[in-house]
Amino acid sequence: MALTNRQVLTLDEFTIREMRAFPKATGELAALLRDIGLAAKRVNVEVNKAGLVDILGDAGHMNVQGEEVKKLDDFANEQMVGVLRHGISCAGIASEELDNFVMFDDTISQQSKYICMFDPLDGSSNIDVNVSIGTIFSIYRRVTPVGTPVTIDDFLQPGNRIVAAGYVIYGSSTILVYATKRGVNGFTLDPSIGEFSLSHPDIKCPETGKIYSINHGNWYGFSDGMKEYVERCQTKDKSKGGPYTQRYIGSMVSDVHRNLIKGGIFMYPGTTDKPAGKLRLLYECNPFAYIMEKAGGRATDGKMRILDKMPTKLHERTPFFVGSVKMMDELEECLAIDNK
Ligand code: AHG
Ligand code: MN
Ligand code: MN
Repeated sequence: MALTNRQVLTLDEFTIREMRAFPKATGELAALLRDIGLAAKRVNVEVNKAGLVDILGDAGHMNVQGEEVKKLDDFANEQMVGVLRHGISCAGIASEELDNFVMFDDTISQQSKYICMFDPLDGSSNIDVNVSIGTIFSIYRRVTPVGTPVTIDDFLQPGNRIVAAGYVIYGSSTILVYATKRGVNGFTLDPSIGEFSLSHPDIKCPETGKIYSINHGNWYGFSDGMKEYVERCQTKDKSKGGPYTQRYIGSMVSDVHRNLIKGGIFMYPGTTDKPAGKLRLLYECNPFAYIMEKAGGRATDGKMRILDKMPTKLHERTPFFVGSVKMMDELEECLAIDNK
């Protein structure tokens, strides 16, 4: 079925329909998601040109037109900040690429009730080698009064306060997936009309799966419990669906997306050198924890639910485990070894 088939809803049509289910809805959230969709389309165009940098000019240098070529993460960051600043539905943002949050000081932005946090380009080490990368975002209701400038308190909220979260994958096709309390839905960019069209309605993560995703290079820094779980994945007998398959792209957007659809577990544990692991709580882990939970899966830091963690700073890192419930249960059984 062609995506342009009129039976298929576009992202705008879908969010507006969802909004209509709430008589009190103002349309702000729908507008915010549309803004993010627009930034994603612009980033997508640029990602598709990434292989041409040698011809057009390297990042940080001048291109043939004498313009400076931007690194893709900076470009993606500017697009996200730009659409949200110009839009009417966001009072401020925090980004993995910026040291501090940004308060939008125009009166229209300050009247809005939402703030947005994002990782503009996830998996950036994969850019130059044509492997899928993505954008991750989450939207919160601000805690400071509407009409005033946002403060750090609006950003240091636990993930259980998320209103909507999502991601975009720039891959073999470009997909935007977002979750609200009503569920998780995926939209594929239809290049013929330049619109995201509903392609993955009501995504549910299978209860169990056969894929585990972890960077094995960190093995010697893993805890005993972590090693035990990985060994179980590798030695599980056939009657229990084993051994599992290891898949690790190094773009968590793509790794978690695959596991969300097929069933599986993604892990970035703390190691002896880096007890908090690598991933950022606010920009990467909370959004995926929210999406996974809304799809029926789970996410923890090995000890507690990710969404209940109270952040203390914007760029905080945390160990991260996310995936199918039954696999998460077995992982926790193994990690309990570390607390003995
Ligand atoms: P970013 O590109 O935003 O810095 O994030 C990359 C992250 C994540 O996407 C991925 O899962 C992880 O880094 C890979 O890290 P390792 O190379 O250490 O496995
Ligand atoms: Mn990232
Ligand atoms: Mn990034």
